[in-house]
Amino acid sequence: MKSTAFVCQNCGFDTPRWLGKCPSCGQWNTLVEEQRVTQRRKVNERVRVATTGARPVKLSQVESKGAKRRSTGIGELDRVLGGGLVPGSLLLIGGEPGIGKSTLTLQVCNELAKTGTKVLYVTGEESAEQVRLRAERLSAAADSIYILCAIDLDEILAAAEELTPGLLVVDSIQTMFRSSLTSAPGSVGQVRECTAELLRLAKSRAVTTFIVGHVTKSGAVAGPRTLEHMVDAVLYFEGEGFQQYRIVRAVKNRYGSTNEIGVFEMTESGLVEVANPSEFFLSGRHPDVSGSAVVSTIEGTRPLLVEIQALAAATPYALPQRVATGFDARRLSMLLCVLERRAGISAAAQDIFVNIAGGLKIQEPAADLAVIAALASSIRNQPLPADAVFIGEVGLGGEVRSVARTESRIAEAARLGFANVIVPRRGVTKKTRTAGANLKPVDTVREALDAIGAS
Ligand code: TYD
Ligand code: MG
Repeated sequence: MKSTAFVCQNCGFDTPRWLGKCPSCGQWNTLVEEQRVTQRRKVNERVRVATTGARPVKLSQVESKGAKRRSTGIGELDRVLGGGLVPGSLLLIGGEPGIGKSTLTLQVCNELAKTGTKVLYVTGEESAEQVRLRAERLSAAADSIYILCAIDLDEILAAAEELTPGLLVVDSIQTMFRSSLTSAPGSVGQVRECTAELLRLAKSRAVTTFIVGHVTKSGAVAGPRTLEHMVDAVLYFEGEGFQQYRIVRAVKNRYGSTNEIGVFEMTESGLVEVANPSEFFLSGRHPDVSGSAVVSTIEGTRPLLVEIQALAAATPYALPQRVATGFDARRLSMLLCVLERRAGISAAAQDIFVNIAGGLKIQEPAADLAVIAALASSIRNQPLPADAVFIGEVGLGGEVRSVARTESRIAEAARLGFANVIVPRRGVTKKTRTAGANLKPVDTVREALDAIGAS
């Protein structure tokens, strides 16, 4: 018997009607509509288990077929996916409205269709003509792309069963609904139920499925975040919609490494891969201006040179501002304290802004030393040497700690012609010494600033 119930996402309490406040745990707005299939049992009837005949097998005896991957025809996207698409996988592609989700998925459709794969592109947001117009801009008019304008999931499932496509795109999950649920499209219940059905289809028919989901700046309530655990891979667009570059990052990937990024440029004819991201992130840099430092960071599996900008200015306010874009604000506060206490450079009564150029978000602590250098440079209003690259995590004692994969970071710096690399002393080995740049090993922040004549 099918029924709907409202289940508290916090404590699991369920009720047949919606309530604003959960009577069990007292939380507000935690009840989400779910569909359930229940079987009435007679009194004394025993519960039957293991109806699917699943049995435990030895892990060593499990056959590994080695998931065969298919290239998407877009190198940077293949990299993010860990080498291509795995048949029957369910992927979520999220980002702010207007960032390029529909563009990228349509480009993938075209590339796969060119190789003869049947593709079904379902749109709940645009008309078939609108998609056709976009396809013309992208020169994506391969013959085996089918388009379906629908928002009723049962209609979509029926169409997919009939057409048996190799690739299915659902754009976007927030517009889809199942009539068996009473809640509105875009609500957590609908979004989850639709995804669960698409998951079933993907796995039973080996249909590779892309689900497009909108994320707003505030992280939308019913947004893709509630689906992350259900899908095989989650790709998010980073960067700002008004700039021409786009970064696609894998935040979850059951078939490859996470945190891998792909860099694209939005052009007149769609998203184009950026072949040399380091050069790209450093373009537009003015090394003769104070507050600009270059870090060699690791994104996924590859090293990337990125510019860190800092700006310090006397504040008109009683409480100075500390603003970080693309960098953790709390880490910035910590680094400012380290700079003051361990290197004697104070930012008191100054507003401080730190920005990672190119819209990238850096999470690894290996960027600490570069942030410190940029801050010191801006506070002192002295530009840093144009050919210096900084690598290293900074501790509370002002010590510079070694980081993973120093060697490939140095190699990337050398490749782009940076002559001086300031590295943690403990990270310097025989291998790194031959990596091609002039290394300046340091133990402390003070030493690092001395090495570049900024202290
Ligand atoms: P779109 O893929 O529609 O965004 P989303 O599906 O994430 O909401 O892309 C939106 C932006 O991209 C839009 O502002 C126009 C721009 N664009 C180009 O610059 N070039 C192109 O070839 C295309 C198709 C779009
Ligand atoms: Mg769209």
